[in-house]
Amino acid sequence: MKKIIISAIAKNGVIGRSNGEMPWHSKEEFQHFKSTTFGFPVIMGRVTFETLGKPLKGRLNVIITSNNNLKYDFNDVKIFNSLEQAFEFCESQKFEKVFIIGGGKIYKQAMKYVDEMIISIMNFEAEGDVFFPEINPRNWKIISSEKRNEFEILTYVRRKADDE
Ligand SMILES: NC(=O)c1ccc[n+]([C@@H]2O[C@H](COP(=O)([O-])OP(=O)(O)OC[C@H]3O[C@@H](n4cnc5c(N)ncnc54)[C@H](OP(=O)(O)O)[C@@H]3O)[C@@H](O)[C@H]2O)c1
Repeated sequence: MKKIIISAIAKNGVIGRSNGEMPWHSKEEFQHFKSTTFGFPVIMGRVTFETLGKPLKGRLNVIITSNNNLKYDFNDVKIFNSLEQAFEFCESQKFEKVFIIGGGKIYKQAMKYVDEMIISIMNFEAEGDVFFPEINPRNWKIISSEKRNEFEILTYVRRKADDE
């Protein structure tokens, strides 16, 4: 099962605000996010889920929390106490791939597990206090870039030992 991070990052590295707010709304970027993730599980932190307010349609919404009593009244939602448990569950359901959709705390922990990162670099800076973790070019290489109006999509894959 392929594990993929998907994120949108402002020019200054900001991805959000710790009060849960998203600093921008880009229809174009949301459309890209939707078409890429549709049909596959989306794994997210509890804060990100509460920011969304409801499950993303057409996808199994997997939420990570340390709260054993957390419950939501929605179908298509699964709750786990760790990223590892969430991966194990998705693996057991035979999904071809899963997307890790944020936020900052989840990206930081997921980075060591993922095979690929699909990153929208927005054309603007944003105000916020949640940042994407550093992408070390020693570990990651860009295999494609695609320009859109408001952003550029960079696809990163993990470098292998024999890459130059
Ligand atoms: N630009 C983008 O692409 C993008 C994407 C997604 C989100 N965002 C933004 O990012 C911000 C939220 O990020 P965030 O870092 O504050 O929160 P987050 O990563 O969405 O969620 C953090 C929460 O996840 C749970 N959690 C994390 N690691 C865990 C672990 N190992 N075990 C158990 N539970 C764990 C905890 O929930 P409990 O407190 O319930 O224990 C923790 O408080 C928002 O502003 C959102 O809009 C941006």
